[in-house]
Amino acid sequence: MGLKEQVREAVDAIRGSYSDTPNIGIELGTGLGMLVEHIQVTHRFSYAEIPHFPTSTVDSHAGELVFGTLSGKSVMAMAGRFHAYEGYSLQQVTFPIRVAKALGVKSLIVSNAAGGLNPQFAAGDLMLITDHINLMGDNPLIGPNDDELGPRYPDMSEPYSKQLVELAEKVALTQGVRLQRGVYVACPGPSLETRAEYRFMRTIGADAVGMSTVPEVIVAVHAGLKVLGFSAITDECLPDALKAADIEAIIAVANRIEPKLTAIVAACIEQMET
Ligand code: HPA
Repeated sequence: MGLKEQVREAVDAIRGSYSDTPNIGIELGTGLGMLVEHIQVTHRFSYAEIPHFPTSTVDSHAGELVFGTLSGKSVMAMAGRFHAYEGYSLQQVTFPIRVAKALGVKSLIVSNAAGGLNPQFAAGDLMLITDHINLMGDNPLIGPNDDELGPRYPDMSEPYSKQLVELAEKVALTQGVRLQRGVYVACPGPSLETRAEYRFMRTIGADAVGMSTVPEVIVAVHAGLKVLGFSAITDECLPDALKAADIEAIIAVANRIEPKLTAIVAACIEQMET
């Protein structure tokens, strides 16, 4: 079965009980999990209920699609992200983005936890993603292209909407939140990077490093969605002053950033055109 047919089956399952049109899709990555509590939920589906959705074999609560209203807008939230390092193909990782598009979503908001490569960044900062570098060694668009889903060679001159970047900067200023901006580089993981790799990534122009987001953004651009992306800077990846990564500390910093990011995203949604 082709991708388009799989998307149609997933949409049909959702349309069995949900008939509204979500304008904005939100992938609740690290730093945005709390946002779901701000949604006036009308419908929710566990990923396991939707045909072709990626599901986790280890955790049956691993993902949920939530529909409802946030800041007055009709939204679809993907609570639960799948990473390439868990063993999912990038086609599986990005399937929810295809379904979002087919349901009527026009703009996608994504977030992640990332290590800061820019020496001006501190753990606890929030970064607006203005561009990305794909070092995953893979691309979700590899394989036959379906022209109905998007072009064979999608343009990547502005993967992150300039208009949404400007909106987020305006919102952050109003809220008095320091918002860094920069380039996000995606690595496959799950091992963290070496000093030599951090030095390399800084040299090629990256400001923050993580293990997600870029596949979803590539598919969103392919599908013609506008994208707004944020990185929660959870640790500092400076090759000449590197401390051993402390995953618990990284999670604690991500949790500390969450209210700041949630407030910015909620205000951005209020002011977004679609
Ligand atoms: N690499 C380094 N530090 C990080 C990452 C990563 O992928 N994610 C969060 N902090």
